[in-house]
Amino acid sequence: MNYTEAVKILEEYGQTHLLKYYDELSSKEQDELIKQISEIDFSLLKLIKGEKNEKAKGVITPLTDTVSIKDIENNKEEFEAIGVDAIKNNKVAALLLAGGMGTRLGSDKPKGMYNIGITKDVYIFERLISNLMDVVEKTGTWIPLFIMTSDKNDKDTREFLKEKNYFGYNEDYIDFFIQEMAPACDYDGKIYLEGKGKISASPNGNGGWFISMEKAGLVKKAKEMGVEYINLFAVDNVCQRMADPLFIGATIKGGYRSASKVVAKARPEEKVGVLCLEDGKPSIVEYYELSEEMTYQKDENGELAYKYGVILNYLFNIDDLEKNANEDLTVHIVEKKIKYMDEDGNVIKPEKENGYKFETLVLDMIHMMDNCLAYEVVREKEFAPIKNKEGNDSVETARELLKINGVEL
Ligand code: UTP
Repeated sequence: MNYTEAVKILEEYGQTHLLKYYDELSSKEQDELIKQISEIDFSLLKLIKGEKNEKAKGVITPLTDTVSIKDIENNKEEFEAIGVDAIKNNKVAALLLAGGMGTRLGSDKPKGMYNIGITKDVYIFERLISNLMDVVEKTGTWIPLFIMTSDKNDKDTREFLKEKNYFGYNEDYIDFFIQEMAPACDYDGKIYLEGKGKISASPNGNGGWFISMEKAGLVKKAKEMGVEYINLFAVDNVCQRMADPLFIGATIKGGYRSASKVVAKARPEEKVGVLCLEDGKPSIVEYYELSEEMTYQKDENGELAYKYGVILNYLFNIDDLEKNANEDLTVHIVEKKIKYMDEDGNVIKPEKENGYKFETLVLDMIHMMDNCLAYEVVREKEFAPIKNKEGNDSVETARELLKINGVEL
């Protein structure tokens, strides 16, 4: 793209303000700005005006492919043997989603670098790697660990983990890749500038992970290593168990193509996404998409029909992902705090939400799968997300749960 072409596309989308400082830039900066413009998917902006809206949900019914804590207890030996065998045969990889900005936590550094220790240093990354190491020790097998970062935090993440010697993980089994970016705009759909020659962009949501992994050549690498299942997990749940042999065993035994760790809702109205069927295929509905009737609906055992909330810990069959990777995922418009440059050239970090980012979500990928097993875990043992600095799902609540689980802080 050259300058004239950039002007043309910006005019078409009402974004010529992005070239306001063009003449003040060095020729290198000018080239970089044009390159950024060439990479923007401007069609996203139409979503704000409601021209291309989120796909309507199909017919929702309860999911019956579930294993409860009790079922798992009753089949423990068998599930474990199958899972351990799959790990020993290199069929399982773990994938850490660490491309998010963690704006609610409010740290300038990647969330995984956050120190949650009290009497000693305990980093979020350290906790996650330590949990994965338990499985490495149990199976005597290094599990390939893929880490997705974004342009915003890739350098810090890599440097930090290297400096900490990967908290004891074998570097040969770790691969990083960078996710794509999407523009961020104000409420009128005007893309923000973050600097005179820099467009405000942010990671495009965790749903882009497979395409980014593929582009980085890592899907091919994983398959060559023998990987059949990828266990995807979020950076912020410090109690979660990943590459959990029981979870893997239950999935393989039941012949499932995907699976999700879930927790039973604490109360019917709890604000979590729940696993269900949508037009007969597995899906996740947000709490606000459930009607009042569905929220309280009971099954034949008197249990909530939509009772299992997802905790962002999924197992996907790699071949099925490859088959479906090019299906369009819904782009969600998310209100966020966006750093921007004001009229006077000052860079502002807003205290309140000031615009939109565009994200695809991994939870929408479940609907691409032929089936999905809901695998119930004990909430207190496996769900301690750190989203906020204080209050719900915060450093404080996670510390409490870590203590209950015997982790020294
Ligand atoms: P969240 O939805 O909690 O978003 O991500 P976030 O960006 O970390 O935090 P806030 O909303 O700005 O406070 C859930 C998981 O998905 C990853 C995050 O790193 C986290 O593990 N994620 C999110 C990505 O990898 N990329 C993204 O673009 C967004």
